[in-house]
Amino acid sequence: MPRTVIAGNWKMHKTAAETRAFIEAFVPLVADVSPEIEIAIAPPFTALAAAREALAADTRVRLGAQNVHWEPQGAYTGEISISMLQEHGVSHVIVGHSERRAYCNELDSTVNLKVRALLAHGLTPIVAVGETLDERNAGETDARVTAQTRAALDGLDDAQIARLVLAYEPIWAIGTGHNCDPAEAGRVMEAIRGCSPALADVPLLYGGSMKAENVAAYMAHAHINGGLVGGASLDPAAFATLVRNATTR
Ligand code: 13P
Repeated sequence: MPRTVIAGNWKMHKTAAETRAFIEAFVPLVADVSPEIEIAIAPPFTALAAAREALAADTRVRLGAQNVHWEPQGAYTGEISISMLQEHGVSHVIVGHSERRAYCNELDSTVNLKVRALLAHGLTPIVAVGETLDERNAGETDARVTAQTRAALDGLDDAQIARLVLAYEPIWAIGTGHNCDPAEAGRVMEAIRGCSPALADVPLLYGGSMKAENVAAYMAHAHINGGLVGGASLDPAAFATLVRNATTR
């Protein structure tokens, strides 16, 4: 049975000061949530140090990053290495988000390089896949997301695959308020899980206009094990309510 994971992807939101204020408000609100629920927030790189400091001894909320480079160091202007993230206690890294695929030249091949590097250093990749509205309307959803999934898994052995987290984020549902019907999301996620027997116990997260009001409907599906949450993770009370509502199954 996959564990439940709820991760907040803050995207390009919050300064270090705003991050501190969020954590001070959020941590007490989720302190009594079952330890079986994995909660993570992924602030911008510039707020990771402040986040780590504000989380202090709190072990309830894990720290994530929104991107990483696969090389350990070098002439890669503007990039961030795994050891730089580890210095701040980052345990989860989002890889292959559709915004990075669309705007920052993130490719299936570089997603795979990042996944391999993260696993080699003991971090948890959260690999995002998803189709555009045009691909959905053309009946290409399953082919698209399974191709992205297989590319991310390329060359990994079963034990490595078992350490991943995958996120299905239909691009047309991100930031639009038009969340994907939970049954349809679950159907696509079952196809994603079918890409490898080693994915049997891997948490599959839904992302795309997930909110406190709709999270329980997703969690009710057998192949949905959590959420990768954008807008609804920015407010401490709203995100805490979402986390709580995710645990009602
Ligand atoms: P929203 O929850 O704002 O739709 O964003 C989803 C997302 O892209 C999370 O990575």
